[in-house]
Amino acid sequence: MTELFEPLTVRGTTIPNRVWMSPMCTYSALSEGPDVGAPNDFHVAHYAARAAGGVGLAVVEATGVLPEGRISPYDLGLWDDSQIPAHRRLAGAIADAGAVPGIQLAHAGRKASMERPWLGGEPVSADDGGWSVSGPSAIAFPGYPEPAAMTLTDISDVVAAWTEASRRALEAGYEVVEVHGAHGYLLHSFLSPLSNNRTDNYGGSLENRARIVLEVLDAVRSVWPADKPVFLRISTTDWVTEDAEDGREAWTVEDSIVLSRWATEHGADLIDASSGALVPAKIPHREDYQTRNAALLKAASGTLVAAVGRISDPVAAQELLATESADAVFIGRALLRDASWANNAAAALGARGRFIRQYDYAV
Ligand SMILES: Cc1cc2nc3c(=O)[nH]c(=O)nc-3n(C[C@H](O)[C@H](O)[C@H](O)COP(=O)(O)O)c2cc1C
Repeated sequence: MTELFEPLTVRGTTIPNRVWMSPMCTYSALSEGPDVGAPNDFHVAHYAARAAGGVGLAVVEATGVLPEGRISPYDLGLWDDSQIPAHRRLAGAIADAGAVPGIQLAHAGRKASMERPWLGGEPVSADDGGWSVSGPSAIAFPGYPEPAAMTLTDISDVVAAWTEASRRALEAGYEVVEVHGAHGYLLHSFLSPLSNNRTDNYGGSLENRARIVLEVLDAVRSVWPADKPVFLRISTTDWVTEDAEDGREAWTVEDSIVLSRWATEHGADLIDASSGALVPAKIPHREDYQTRNAALLKAASGTLVAAVGRISDPVAAQELLATESADAVFIGRALLRDASWANNAAAALGARGRFIRQYDYAV
């Protein structure tokens, strides 16, 4: 049996297989004008190609719930109703090509307002179309501008923006919303004591640091139908083993297990187990550096878990499922290299891919 190509039903949504396209920014939207943040022909071609290539679910890249929540000025957005029609076209193209359309809703926090990676990835100044950033505390990502510490009103505005963006995602026809709680962006920066030294209800204890994440999940669920899935992507660890100089500890796998349980109670159906990117850190050079945390999380929390990170071999991907280390795999860079990775994997494993049309004759 090839579990990788078995369907997975989450709430009322059946995803035809467990090879999923990981959200990956393409930084290819317009940065200004009436179509700012809107998916265009490039996005349609890029995502539809991977959907046609056999993934069961394609999660559209980090999409800003607010303009200042974009990583770069060229990110996708869903902060305005005017962006819905272009997203509807993208979600429809993914669905027409046979995959379930999902979208990752995000706020980049203190890591916002950056240049596109291939142009250096440095902070963009306000003169060049950038903006000032904010976060839980006035603690900068090393080398980046210092963020403004968010007020309680700022926090409730961001949570409300997630509600509105989810409503728009629903109107656009997406079937899955993934909340981006990883990679040092806003929600992760609240979770980790390395970036959060608040003394109010949003800082200090694990419960307080997790509060905004659970509020965002509640906000999404307040508009997202009960028969549609909500995912949460987290960084399972900051990869900081020693305590910081001032004695503050980092975010750990144990914290992630607790958060996963709470997240389930707040309507998350699946934890997408990524890691790192809160601070520069040494990440182990081993294939399973990240997928082993997914397995730990799955065993300890009992929730559905997707593994991601350095998965490029179909046999290894299948093994993650067969050993119950994960319920699905997100494929990132391997799908950038080969849009048909999923169908090729099915052929390599002797499984039937999602497509039984021309593809059967091509292998
Ligand atoms: C170009 C690029 C853009 C990415 N953008 C996002 C993103 O928008 N949201 C996110 O959660 N992760 C993002 N990631 C991380 C990927 O989703 C994935 O977790 C990571 O690349 C590890 O998987 P891989 O080894 O299969 O590539 C990005 C990665 C790449 C290479």
